[in-house]
Amino acid sequence: MANDEIAKLTEDIIICEACYLKDSRTQVVPGLYGPKNGLCIIGEAPGYYEDKQGIPFVGRSGKLLDNMLSGIGLEREKDLSILNVIKCRPTTADNNNRTPTNSELKFCGERWLFKQLKLLSPKLIVTIGSIALRFFIPSAAVTKYVGKSYDTDFGIKLYVTYHPAYILRNYNLMDLYNEHFEGIKSLYLNLLNQNKITSDNKRSTKGQGEQKSLTDFL
Ligand code: URA
Repeated sequence: MANDEIAKLTEDIIICEACYLKDSRTQVVPGLYGPKNGLCIIGEAPGYYEDKQGIPFVGRSGKLLDNMLSGIGLEREKDLSILNVIKCRPTTADNNNRTPTNSELKFCGERWLFKQLKLLSPKLIVTIGSIALRFFIPSAAVTKYVGKSYDTDFGIKLYVTYHPAYILRNYNLMDLYNEHFEGIKSLYLNLLNQNKITSDNKRSTKGQGEQKSLTDFL
């Protein structure tokens, strides 16, 4: 995505040494940027493979995520942004992946993710998994929030779904996961449609319900 501000921000992110996660990482994983005012998927933190490659969601769960996205006609980077709340891989003492703590989420998310979101100004953010959700709604239990959308107090619509790694361990939820991605598609289409209608006052609202592909808007 060609944008000087986001390029400058990314330069700052990749040299960040603001916390101890710098000591365990191979490299920072800043995320992938799609179009502005679009869709943004948000995970928790890089794992082993992401840390090695510097790209979010490249392991098994990344493959499932890509399949789910292609099922609704979207491709990472071309059509949407993929970010994590935390930019460096959290590890255990024996170098396995570890769940980030609340203070790590707050520290890194407020320092970098919020700035990325401000510049990308997405229409819709989708948190995948309980940890990413916890950053936005600290008291939320993913099981209660999942499959629904919420208004955040910073004005961006938020949809909650499961982490693909969770689906890989609970394959019986695959049909439900497909439903969630269909829900994401229709919510996103509605948000894009609303935007088109308000930004073009000549346009009739008649075509609002027409079935369009997401990429028609991007
Ligand atoms: N899990 C995440 O939440 N993010 C990644 O980038 C990879 C796995």
